[in-house]
Parts: sequence; structure tokens; C-alpha cells
Amino acid sequence: MTDTQPTTTSGGTAADRGPSLENLLHETRAFPPSPEFAAQANAQASLYDEARADRLEFWARQARELVTWKTPFTQTLDWSEAPVAKWFADGTLNAAYNAVDRHVEAGHGDRVALYFEGEPGDTRTVTYADLQREVVRAANALAALGVGKGDRVVIYMPMLVESVVAMLACARLGAPHSVVFGGFSADALRSRIADAKATLVITADGGYRRGAPSALKPAVDEALSGAGASSVRHVLVVRRTGQDVEWTEGRDVWWHEAVEAADTFHEPVWVGAEHPLYILYTSGTTGKPKGILHTTGGYLTQTAYTHKNVFDLKPETDVYWCTADIGWVTGHSYVVYGPLVNGATQVLYEGTPDTPHRGRWWELVEKYKVSILYTAPTAIRTCMKWGEDVPAGFDLSSLRVLGSVGEPINPEAWMWYRRVIGGDRTPIVDTWWQTETGAIMISPLPGVTAAKPGSAQVPLPGVAADVVDDEARPVPDGGGGYLVLTEPWPSMLRGIWGDLERFKDTYWSRFPGLYFAGDGAKKDEDGDIWLLGRVDDVMNVSGHRLSTTEIESALVSHDIVAEAAVVGAADDTTGQAVVAFVILRGEHAERAGTPDGAHEVQQELRNHVAKEIGPIAKPRRILVVPELPKTRSGKIMRRLLRDVAENRTVGDATTLADSSVMELIAAGLSTNRSADD
Ligand code: WTA
Repeated sequence: MTDTQPTTTSGGTAADRGPSLENLLHETRAFPPSPEFAAQANAQASLYDEARADRLEFWARQARELVTWKTPFTQTLDWSEAPVAKWFADGTLNAAYNAVDRHVEAGHGDRVALYFEGEPGDTRTVTYADLQREVVRAANALAALGVGKGDRVVIYMPMLVESVVAMLACARLGAPHSVVFGGFSADALRSRIADAKATLVITADGGYRRGAPSALKPAVDEALSGAGASSVRHVLVVRRTGQDVEWTEGRDVWWHEAVEAADTFHEPVWVGAEHPLYILYTSGTTGKPKGILHTTGGYLTQTAYTHKNVFDLKPETDVYWCTADIGWVTGHSYVVYGPLVNGATQVLYEGTPDTPHRGRWWELVEKYKVSILYTAPTAIRTCMKWGEDVPAGFDLSSLRVLGSVGEPINPEAWMWYRRVIGGDRTPIVDTWWQTETGAIMISPLPGVTAAKPGSAQVPLPGVAADVVDDEARPVPDGGGGYLVLTEPWPSMLRGIWGDLERFKDTYWSRFPGLYFAGDGAKKDEDGDIWLLGRVDDVMNVSGHRLSTTEIESALVSHDIVAEAAVVGAADDTTGQAVVAFVILRGEHAERAGTPDGAHEVQQELRNHVAKEIGPIAKPRRILVVPELPKTRSGKIMRRLLRDVAENRTVGDATTLADSSVMELIAAGLSTNRSADD
């Protein structure tokens, strides 16, 4: 592949480049695909024409070609009960069969499915035939523990081969899984188990993190000891670290014992296309996480389609690596279902990027000859900080496509990614999507699109998106507004578990008939889409979604807190950082008046949030204030607090009920400044 020189598209000069939005939108660099890449690419420009000509027939073709059906479908989309869609509804299939068995039946049993690399350096190579054996036995083990079609299973695991096997075993039984990120606390785990009414929890004794075993089982024990999780009958425990675990006889079962005892034959449970595949909890604008529901046929179709075309996957030759944890949607769609349905060979890494050294990722790219890498802007910015001599120490010439997901990628990080990691050679795909969309929606196609650093650019063939104003009118090129999806898509969420009203209200009420994504966006002069971050009370910290309200309720659940307001403040590395403003009760306010006291209070509250939600939700800064800025209707004006958190001049405060509040806060801050982290 040859080096491609940037060409100029619309307006502006190189000197305009800077961090501001206006400059972003005059980004002049564009990287068209090299002729060599374009010639071999899975996706050609004709895909857009085909989808435009007949969108539904386009999706039907993808569903027939990429997925194996037990009973073929005859209907493509039923939108009569909008906004709950039915795709390919009369077809039947099994997700695990599609991800595993059919590749073995096609003669690819010897192809490597997973190169597992543990953090301590232990490795395991799992072929598709191995994976089939493991999934079959795990499915039988789960069935022996009473799991049947429709039962919910919570998976709370590190990144292990068994985590993938557990998800697929559930899918094989038609039992929806709900993976809870291993970094969440016992309380967060409990509320998800309770909401899903799960009957089984699959976990591990622990996993390796930053060079040491980190226990997981105690959080499960704690979650199950409280009220609310009484639906659970068994806990299946993978032995990973060998650390001591508490054992509840009759309830707890070792994974290896159950699997070894299990039968080696299992007929997949064939389910209708709209059978639930999984529930994944994500933060919304209230304190209660939403259980996003995905079903089978449409989800597999779109994850496979996007994985094939956006990453240009060649299953015979590529080695693919997505660094996401299976606890997030990216791990579901682009570690488990998309790649495995496509028969990909991939790397699965347990640990952190800097253990035992900061070159660990690049060492793995070199070792496994990774050709497609999919990661998050936060990780890229962290590597930028560590310096380019770290990746320079490794041979990264196997890379041919780089992907980004989770938050807007700033042009500087994009350019660094391309130059330092991609050797100025690889296309970059900046992929916009959400837990709710299930699969990538807006992204360049690597063999077709001239990529612009910082823009997700265009809806994929088959996807319909737009940017609208307050009145739901599409904005002209050059204008800004809200990102919406204007037509249903196969991998769309089918609802919020147990709460149809909230589903309608959250996504479909703002602009009737349109899906409201909650993201601000602009269209540049070429009509390309630039994402600008959330417009609601959701933060994006290191690509992880956190709700301001959820952290506020965690803070006020502590005895000493009277009121709390949380904002996401811009952060160079993590995108946003959590900043909390708290009003303390009575004597505690005085205690926080001294630097030592304030420090103590902050530690107490940060630990409390970690306990309630998880360490990822810990506020970076906690500021003790005497008042919070509120409108006359009592709504906290987070915009003003964000100004304070980002050290800006405070904006228009005229709608405040009490206009002196901001002065009070400013005065208060000057006395407790030394208490900041
Ligand atoms: C943000 C992760 C800009 C966005 C797959 C969205 C992005 C939220 C991008 C969903 C991107 C994701 N550019 N912003 N390429 N990708 N986002 O549900 O705000 O964890 O609404 O899904 O992340 O986060 P979620």
C-alpha cells in the first residue's frame, strides 16, 4: 500500500487548525484511500447506491448472505408497532451456531478464533473447533443448572476465553445474557441482577490487573447477600487467579467441574429472529441504569455487516484486535458477535496497556501480527502522552486498518494514530454508534471515503441519519443541531427491559418519528457529520458512559451530603472528567473548612461513589460549596458549574433564581481550593 498524501477539501487553511469547533469544521486535510486499498476493499462505492435504491432489500440481502438461518425469513421489516421494530421476524436461527458451529461445518475448525493473552503473559490459542467444544459443554452445564430459553444470566467477568464462551453458551440456549462490567461495584451488580431477575451469575475468582490478582467473587457474594437479588439460584465460578474464595454450598459451582462433567453434544436452541439475545445496562439521564434490549437476527446481521465492511475484514488473513472489555457494548458487538459471525481470528487481552510496560499493546500487535486494531480515543491520547518512542520500539507494519470508537476523536489524536501507529499508511475509521444502536451507524468506509481527521463523516449504506434543529428540521450544510436517526435499522434496541414507556420517552418523544441519540452534531460544508458530545446529562469519561444523576444520587446517599451536582469537565486525556459540587450537612461543612478536613471529606466521598457505582465513576474533583445554582423551577444549571469546573468565566446567569449564588460559590472555592486533587 502506498502512502497517500492529504488532499484539500473545503475552505480554510492549515493555519486555521486549532481546537475550536469553527476550526474543526474547516479541517482541510483528507486522506483518500490508496488505489491498492480501494481495489481490494470489501466495500465499494456501489454499496451506497444499492442501499439507496432499496434499503429494505439491501438489508435482506445482508441478512441472507452474512447469517445462516434455520428457517429463512420472508418479511424484512415490520414497523407497525413503532418504535418497537421487528426485523426478519419469521426467520429462525441461533446466534452461537452462527458464531461458531457453522465455521467448523464449513471446514474452518482449525482456524484460530482467539489468541488469548493473559496479563501475566500466559497464552492460549483457541480454534473454532475448540470454541465449539467449549461452548457446547458450557451450554450443557448451564442447562444442568436449570437455565432454559428466556432465562436471564448475569456475567461478571474479566476478559477471559471463558467470558466469550459464557456469552455464547447463553446464546446457544436462547437465554439472554446481561454482562456487567467487572469494574462495577457490588451495589451496581445487585441492582442489575434484580432488574433482570437473573437466575444464574457467572463470575471468576478474579483476574489479573496491573500485575496483581484482583478479586471479583467477593463482589458477587456481597451483591447476593443484600435484598433484591433473590432470583439467583446458582453462581458459576471460573478459576483464574487461584485466590481464596468464600463458598456457599449448594449455590456456588466451579465452572471447570461443571463443564468437565457436561455432555459433548448439544443441539442449539433455534429461536425466532426477535428472541432476546442480551440486555446491557447503560447510564441514562436518571439515576436508574437502562437495560438496553437487543434481539437476535437483526443484531447479528448488522454487527456482521459493519464488521466486514468498516474494518475490511478478510477472515482468512487478518488478525483483528478490539481492545474493548466485554462489559461494554463494543465488546459485545466487536469482540464477540460481529467478528465471530464473520469467522475472524482475533486477539483477546486480559490486562491493562501499561503492564508490565507501556509498550504492551504494541508488543502484542507485533507478536500476533495484528492487522486491524479498534480502540478508543482515550487510549490513543494516553499513548500520545507516553511518547512515540514507545510504539517506535515495535514492528507495527502488519497494521492495515485502524478504528476509533466511544467519543469524538480530536484531529490531533487522529493524526498521531495514523502517523505513529499506522505508519502514515493505514486508513482510520472513526465509528459513531451507541449501546442502543447495537452496531456502527456513522463511519467512513476505508476503501471508499476520503477520511477527514476528527469526523465520523457519513451514515453507512442502509443507515439514515441527519442533524436537526429544535423543530426537527434538517439543518443545512454548515449548521449544527441534534443527531437523529430517521429510519429503523436492524440492530436497533427493541426497548428498555421492563419499561416500554421509558423507551418511548427517552428516544422517541423529543422529535416524534425520529430516534433522538442525545448527541450534538454539525454538518460541514460537504455534509459530513462531526459529533460534538452529549447534549443531555450523560458524561463520557474515557469512552465510558456515566450519568450525572447516577453519581449525584450516589453522593447524596452519603450521610454528610445534603445536595450534589455533577458535571463533566473537559479533560485532555479522558475526554471528560467527573467534577462534583456538594453541599454538606451542618457541622460537616465546617469540617471541610480546613484544608485537611476538606481532603478527608473528599476521600470519603470519592470512596463512597466507588462503592456505590464503581471506581470509574469516582469524581476527579469534589468541590464543597454553600449553594448550587438553580433556575426558578429548581433545575440545577450545570452549564454554569461546567464553566467553574473548566476555569472559565461564568456565562449568562440571568435565569438563576438567586443571582448571587455564583458569587457565593466563587468565594467558597477560593477558601477550599487547596482541597482539590
Ligand atoms: C459517544 C459506545 C463521537 C456518543 C459504542 C454516543 C462517539 C456515546 C463516538 C455512546 C464517535 C461513541 N464519535 N462520539 N466515534 N462513538 N460516541 O453507549 O456520545 O457506550 O452517544 O456506546 O458515545 O456510548 P456507548
